[in-house]
Amino acid sequence: MQLDGVVFYGRHGEHALQMFGLEQELQRWQGARVLDCPGGPGSLAALLAAAGVEVIACDPLYALSNAELRQRTLDDLALSLRKSETSSMLRPGFDLEPVRRSHLESLEAFLADREAHPERYLAASLPELPFASGSFDLVLSGHLLFSYAPVADGGLMTGSGLDLLWHRTALAELCRVCRSDVRLYPAHTQTLPALRHPYAEALLADLPSPWQGSFMPRSYDQGFSGCTDGLQLTRQLALSVAAPGPAR
Ligand SMILES: C[S@@+](CC[C@H](N)C(=O)[O-])C[C@H]1O[C@@H](n2cnc3c(N)ncnc32)[C@H](O)[C@@H]1O
Repeated sequence: MQLDGVVFYGRHGEHALQMFGLEQELQRWQGARVLDCPGGPGSLAALLAAAGVEVIACDPLYALSNAELRQRTLDDLALSLRKSETSSMLRPGFDLEPVRRSHLESLEAFLADREAHPERYLAASLPELPFASGSFDLVLSGHLLFSYAPVADGGLMTGSGLDLLWHRTALAELCRVCRSDVRLYPAHTQTLPALRHPYAEALLADLPSPWQGSFMPRSYDQGFSGCTDGLQLTRQLALSVAAPGPAR
């Protein structure tokens, strides 16, 4: 599949937990500050907040109204599904109808939560975030880095896409605002079979100090086969900031 821009796409909170390996970890992060960047029209922030997590979601399109975001999501979902139907990157026979339903459900949950808690949703874009260093215990980033690299480098973007330099700067920014864990998904190419993304390999080999990272298997199934790992980074030295850390 090839796209000429980043789509405004969001996932069900339960699927996002699988993407980030958080299915069994909700208790651990209760009371922690978590950033979801980009949040898109997804219901992860609503789910985390209901579980007692202090969460902020950011996305450049949060500058728009709920009515505008609803229309944008419906348009981008239709476009993505149309392209996925004829795409050679998904397993033959993968059923896209449950995918469509799940995106529509997550859109409604996102809009309801944003209506009730507008302070949770902030317009901001990588590679520069409006947060102080070490503001969050856990930073999550799904379906932006690696996915929107140029097609020639294993991403979805026609043209130049988000190149390796952009990825390096964006990852450094996600690490800057985080005092403990950064998790990214996917860390694989948009191909059949999926392979570890070359940018993810390059970034992992050259992480800013004092971060260490590894590829982690994830249970989220969006129709790929092959290597569908995510990337997980941990700060090795505690960063002393006033805000409380996660319950462990
Ligand atoms: C495919 S969606 C992913 C949303 C969600 N994280 C998920 O996994 O479903 C990509 C999102 O990235 C947002 N986006 C585009 N450029 C961005 C940037 N420079 N910084 C942060 N978010 C960006 C888009 O508005 C869109 O909501």
